Amino acid sequence: MPTYLPPAAALPAHPEHQRVEAARALLQVVAKGRTTDQLVSGLSTPLAGEMLFGALRHYYSLAQSLEPLLSRPIRDRDQDLWCLLIVGAYQLHYLRIPDHAAVHATVSACAALGKPWARGFVNGVLRSLQRGPKPSFDAAQAHPDWFADLIRAEMPRQADAVLQGNQSRAPMSLRVNTTRIDPADYGRALSEAGIESQAGLVAEQLILDQPVARHTLPGYADGLVSIQDAGAGFAPQLLAPQCGARLLDACAAPGGKLFHLLERCPDLDAVALDVAPARVAHLRDEAGRLGHRASILEADATTLEWWDGTPFHAVLLDAPCTGSGTLRRHPEMKLLRGADDLAPNAERQAKLLSSVWHTLRPGGKLLYCTCSLFSAENDAVIEEFLANTADARASAFVLPAGLSTRHGWQLTPADWRTDGFYYALLSKD
Ligand SMILES: C[S@@+](CC[C@H](N)C(=O)[O-])C[C@H]1O[C@@H](n2cnc3c(N)ncnc32)[C@H](O)[C@@H]1O
Repeated sequence: MPTYLPPAAALPAHPEHQRVEAARALLQVVAKGRTTDQLVSGLSTPLAGEMLFGALRHYYSLAQSLEPLLSRPIRDRDQDLWCLLIVGAYQLHYLRIPDHAAVHATVSACAALGKPWARGFVNGVLRSLQRGPKPSFDAAQAHPDWFADLIRAEMPRQADAVLQGNQSRAPMSLRVNTTRIDPADYGRALSEAGIESQAGLVAEQLILDQPVARHTLPGYADGLVSIQDAGAGFAPQLLAPQCGARLLDACAAPGGKLFHLLERCPDLDAVALDVAPARVAHLRDEAGRLGHRASILEADATTLEWWDGTPFHAVLLDAPCTGSGTLRRHPEMKLLRGADDLAPNAERQAKLLSSVWHTLRPGGKLLYCTCSLFSAENDAVIEEFLANTADARASAFVLPAGLSTRHGWQLTPADWRTDGFYYALLSKD
């Protein structure tokens, strides 16, 4: 999978600094559990970003190719060198930078990491890697075993395509704010700005041929458009609240689905909750940018303390989950999440679902969704809820991509347009 090819003249005078930035950021993921969202601002060039994301995307297979070349395990205090080797191996296997330049810049990074004594070691390992046969790893080997095994067990026919999809780059998808501009007019504005796009899966979506910086999107600051994965765009058509209806979004931040619903029906009487203060602040900022009205509360949806007792016609529960459907955008989740996250997540999802169910009026609809690929967070949660809730029914529906499940619908990154999302639509007797 050859990728980034920076023109030689575009490389900064000290290319080792980009390797240092990528290795240090990778160490923050490996050792401190930090996410790429928290780290990208510390990367000064696109190449440093490419090396970080690529090293994370291929971490497990890069580690497999390096481990046989180490005579002994790397000490805990030298994990920065391990991360530098991963960054070096990524360049040799996946980037079209000449091998000698990649090795030279990576070895030079040892001094910048404060470990000049490691130059010979890093040079030796990377030269051995360079001399050896180019490994051909399949997509499954770029995942932790538990992840690949579970995907194969749960979606045997789609597994290879899903795992391959996880290794690809997600397209940049936009949701046009139809209260401000028609999607076709916005498509023309993009084209005039030299940004080509194609239609997405729902009317308001445009998928860009090439990703661009957010600030270059016409009218972004004025709220004409938002960035949102195409698979996240089905809440309005599934929940389909009547205009003027009372809507609860129980886990709302950063607000993609809430604002999409409000763009279809600006006079919804919307209440939006989120438990995380910083995310609530962001939600309020986004409502301001887009010009939407909602009652935004910092509250825990597993309780009803925030509720004034007036029932909702429609409830959206976009539950916190492993994010296993979003590895294309967040490859660090392969390192940060494990199989043992599934049970506690499922417990929290079940608690959220049974709590917000009380706020739904009879005849109302609840849309449950996650960005997970795993049944434990999806169908299994709904299955248990239906078994324990006499007045709940699941409705069947069909989406234009993905696959039907027992109680809902699963989108997967096997379709290049979408991340992995799960939707289930419940109605109350
Ligand atoms: C998957 S995100 C929601 C994405 C959002 N619906 C969108 O479309 O942009 C899940 C959100 O749930 C919030 N959350 C987690 N536990 C919660 C709880 N007990 N009550 C309310 N919000 C919660 C998280 O802070 C996070 O912002």
